[in-house]
Amino acid sequence: MKHIAVFASGSGSNAEAIIRYFENHTHIRVALVVSNNPLAPVVKMAHQHRIISAIVSKNFFEDEARMSALLQSQQIGFIALAGFLQLIPEWLVKKFPNQIVNIHPALLPKFGGKGMYGKKVHEAVLAAGETESGMTIHYVNAQYDEGEIIAQQKVQIAANENAESLAQKVLQLEHEHYPKAIERLLM
Ligand code: GRF
Repeated sequence: MKHIAVFASGSGSNAEAIIRYFENHTHIRVALVVSNNPLAPVVKMAHQHRIISAIVSKNFFEDEARMSALLQSQQIGFIALAGFLQLIPEWLVKKFPNQIVNIHPALLPKFGGKGMYGKKVHEAVLAAGETESGMTIHYVNAQYDEGEIIAQQKVQIAANENAESLAQKVLQLEHEHYPKAIERLLM
């Protein structure tokens, strides 16, 4: 059985899609949810699904000894970031080579980088007059949104599109494709 951890800071809808997809899976299990925000809905959601969650401070998260011990305690071999707003430290990237992935709500390499998260991404896409957007799943390196791209899916932007409606469309794509992409990487 491969044990994966999901790192999330917010609502956790992708984390939930991943948890649901791998419930009763023969080879893959979500064994841990890590959040840096004790008030994030993702923490409650993990609890409802009986998944162990850990709330980590910035200091804890960046401390190799303590974070390694946490990940080892659940035999984690793969990490999926799902709306996790802290930069992954270099030691963690090195410890999990090509075993950390992220999802971004736009077609990278456009509209990525530090500060590009949530509504801001969709606002930037609309302001640039793009006719399509989408989601990108990519490997994580020590720079925001710059690791090698694994998969992309597109949506068309409607004439009357706003940031909220675009976010919803992209999120639906994310829920559908993120768990399957993880499965493909691990099987
Ligand atoms: C998603 O749009 C994802 O692409 C981005 O952060 C958002 C997380 O949403 N990295 P949720 O917490 O999974 O609902």
